[in-house]
Amino acid sequence: MGKTIIISNRLPVKIAVKDGNYTFQASEGGLATGLGSIYKNGNSVWLGWPGLFVDNEQQKKEIDKKLEALNLHPVYLTNEEINQYYEGFSNEILWPVFHYMSTYARYENSYWEYYNVVNKKFCDAFLKIYQPGDVVWIHDYHLLLLPKMIRTAQPLATIGFFQHIPFPSFELFRLLPWRAELLEGLLGADLIGFHTYDDARHFLGASSHILSVKSSLNTVLHDDRKIVVESFPMGIDDKKFIGLTNDKEVLQHIEHLKNSFTNVRLILTIDRLDYSKGILQRLQAFDLLLENRPDWREKVSLYMIVVPSRDTVAMYKELRNEIDKLVGNINARHRTNTWTPINYFYRSYPIEMLSALYQFADVCLVTPMRDGMNLVCKEFVASRVSHDGVLILSEMAGAAKELIDSIIVNPNNIVEISHAMLAALNMPATEQQRRMKQMQELVSKYNVHHWVETFMHRLNEMEKPRQVEVSKYLNFFTGQYIRNRYVRAKKRLLLLDYDGTLVNFATDINAVSPDKELLDILQDLVNDEGNKVVIISGRQHTTMEEWFGNMAVDMVAEHGVWLKKAGGNWEETIQFNVDWKKQLLPILKVYSDRAPGSFVEEKSHSLAWHYRGVEGGIGEFRANELMGNIRYLIADQPLHMLQGNKVIEIKSSEINKGKAALAYITGGHYNFIIAIGDDVTDEDMFKVVRPFGITVKIGTNKSAAAFHFNNSKEARALLRNLPSKLLITKILDKLIHILPYPSFGREG
Ligand code: UDP
Ligand code: G6P
Repeated sequence: MGKTIIISNRLPVKIAVKDGNYTFQASEGGLATGLGSIYKNGNSVWLGWPGLFVDNEQQKKEIDKKLEALNLHPVYLTNEEINQYYEGFSNEILWPVFHYMSTYARYENSYWEYYNVVNKKFCDAFLKIYQPGDVVWIHDYHLLLLPKMIRTAQPLATIGFFQHIPFPSFELFRLLPWRAELLEGLLGADLIGFHTYDDARHFLGASSHILSVKSSLNTVLHDDRKIVVESFPMGIDDKKFIGLTNDKEVLQHIEHLKNSFTNVRLILTIDRLDYSKGILQRLQAFDLLLENRPDWREKVSLYMIVVPSRDTVAMYKELRNEIDKLVGNINARHRTNTWTPINYFYRSYPIEMLSALYQFADVCLVTPMRDGMNLVCKEFVASRVSHDGVLILSEMAGAAKELIDSIIVNPNNIVEISHAMLAALNMPATEQQRRMKQMQELVSKYNVHHWVETFMHRLNEMEKPRQVEVSKYLNFFTGQYIRNRYVRAKKRLLLLDYDGTLVNFATDINAVSPDKELLDILQDLVNDEGNKVVIISGRQHTTMEEWFGNMAVDMVAEHGVWLKKAGGNWEETIQFNVDWKKQLLPILKVYSDRAPGSFVEEKSHSLAWHYRGVEGGIGEFRANELMGNIRYLIADQPLHMLQGNKVIEIKSSEINKGKAALAYITGGHYNFIIAIGDDVTDEDMFKVVRPFGITVKIGTNKSAAAFHFNNSKEARALLRNLPSKLLITKILDKLIHILPYPSFGREG
């Protein structure tokens, strides 16, 4: 088992240089505090920005060495990179949009360029320490492009990604000019985690709308890989906070607080400076409380810590000024000689002071406008070992999904927050205890260890990325060799799919009847007595009869249900109970009503819902929804659901083109076999034919077929030229056996 490589924009420690000496300080924010305390336990290294600018190589070496002792690897960023990638793209675009404050976003193109450059820088730094077998865990919105970059460089790597901030609904996410690239970037991971189910759902929705990926339940299929998207609510190191309640320094802080706040109840708020935290609204609510309830003056104070953060970003600077002004205003209006309504601190505190405050305060007020999770509220709960105290929590924080015994408020509703403060201050002790105990149980059960274990466990159990089967392009040289084999053979079998192989797709499935060129090509092949030409399609037999009824070809319709030998009659090869169609047909019809441009095709043994005519994105969205429904309904029936090219088809699991192809192969002694197809349904045919003959996929190289063409035009050209004579037969034969070619199947 290899090591775990954690990657985030910031390392869990910040380095500063003071009088030529390096000082290390814990980084702020949930990511660093949450993971920072436990990453050391396992076999992990952490890659990230050390928080300072270094342009001197000697200094870099010294820092590298110091950090290496802590299993930390620095990624040095320049001033300009921090301006554009961190302050710009990450915090002036992604942060506001992901927190539903899109009007704050500044869509600068240079931000995007730097975001790419820095993600690449992280990728290069990663590749220097990566060993096969290592597991990669990438964190947060600064590095959305990194999973794909790593996947491209190391296709077999196991990559997890966790986003610590919300993932917005599609309507917000679509505003981003680089939305598709960002999703593509993330989908390089194997496992993508969010704090809440809603975030995961929003991500799946955005992916199917924007990238038209196939997704079902919590799985996305992209680039022939399966990506799992799930919620993993992050917890805290509860034992650490419980342990701190006996710490000497903490107890001293509490004593000091007791002396400073005699006969005054304390409401505590702790946040990083951020407009997503609802600090101004909270101040307004406290102001309202003092206005409406003068009897509480001198009896309650707000203890507000704002931790400096991103104050080089304009919106943050502005927010700081506004907070300063509002606090000044409220204090000026309400204060007395012996009482300050708001005790406001703009600085960060060591954990001992935080613990003392968590224990001393009567109420903790956490009212973000949006927050991925919010760990402050969980730290407060864990610290209340005497089970008293009240938590007021915004419904917009991820934590509100778990801490349902808090007083939940809408952070925009100033009146509601001020009422909640009063309710908290007046809450009877027994009620406080009941609620606090419930929340403590939850915080302790779903702690940060549980979070890491469940995420890593899920990541490690992910299907190992397979070396995807890749076919070789059927180039001129290979084409010549195939013609050689064809000309030499006496008995030949040609298995040809129709839609997407012999003709291109069209929105109207009836609009692709065979054209004259195709009919001529097929007729030439049929004219050779050595050839057995089989058109093997998912189409209905009646349509095939109409198109090829007069030609001496064999036809397989509905993926093998119907068969017509050249010159013979249509036979139903298998008879199945098709009562299930009655149950599913109405459901498919509902979906065709809901997605204009889609329609249902009823075949004798299958049902197909076609959505080629549906507006981009919506078709995939509905298709995913439909599959989710149908999968449940057919779970205990011998049915199979296929997602083809803009079509979902439900049929008996006994029917597939592979079986039909095998019947032909075993039924005749052919010394040249070729199978050509384009869709997932043709993969069954390729798997069966590959040991015996030449297999050609149209459209993509991800296939069980040995060769591929880019389009049906190339397939037609091959079929047209097959019978023509060649001159360089012998040389070709020799070369083809020396060069590393995939199997052409047996000859003879
Ligand atoms: N925190 C800190 N120093 C302080 C105040 C707070 O390190 O002076 C920590 C706090 O203990 C918590 C984290 O910062 O673990 C804030 O995380 P949260 O998830 O609440 O918000 P975020 O800052 O990640 O948006
Ligand atoms: C939030 C983000 C983290 C970030 C932290 C502090 O918790 O999710 O990724 O590290 O804020 O912000 P900063 O910009 O100082 O790293």
